[in-house]
Amino acid sequence: VSRFRTAFTLAALAIVGGPVLAQGFAFMPDGGRGLFLGVVGDDQAALARLEQLDLDQAGWMEELASSEMLSEREATTLAGYLSVNFPLPTVDVEADFAQRLPRDGKDLAIANCQTCHSIFSGYLTQRRTEQGWRSIFLSPFHREIEMSEAERETFALYSAANMPIAMEDVPPELRF
Ligand code: HEC
Repeated sequence: VSRFRTAFTLAALAIVGGPVLAQGFAFMPDGGRGLFLGVVGDDQAALARLEQLDLDQAGWMEELASSEMLSEREATTLAGYLSVNFPLPTVDVEADFAQRLPRDGKDLAIANCQTCHSIFSGYLTQRRTEQGWRSIFLSPFHREIEMSEAERETFALYSAANMPIAMEDVPPELRF
């Protein structure tokens, strides 16, 4: 029964993707997708303008400077995400906006960094620079992880800004 349930759950997760996987990981800081939805909400005019912009991280930092909703770290996280993922492809414009936002660093870590070893030892407790996070994908056992170049960069920028997490902030059941 449990094997069936695991297979079923994995299949369901593969279909629904990031948002469902993120349940139980509220202790991790939001990534760019979550922050963007929080800041822009369903302000269609803001969406229409922002999704066309093609800026680097510094440019996005300026663009976001007026948003008092974001802490410095959140602004860095969101600017990193947007610099890699925006402008959004114009395909599929009929889709719900939230569905069109690519997975952010938090989504990607939860989806990809806990199948072979614990997310605690391999991810949450790691302090690395952006380059340090990129270098993870060079080792033979990580090279094969199915993440696009844009996803790896999204992941590296999020992780450098938001890791490590203090042990006492990680739920006890994940500390292994
Ligand atoms: C396909 C299996 C697999 C996946 C998926 C995986 N790892 Fe690993 N990882 C390994 C193996 C094998 C080792 C080396 C043996 C060990 O330390 O358990 C390792 C070791 C590590 C180490 C310590 C050694 C080093 O390279 O510095 C870190 C950090 C790490 N992984 C991070 C990650 C992150 C971040 C992710 C998600 C992007 C991830 N891993 C996903 C297999 C995997």
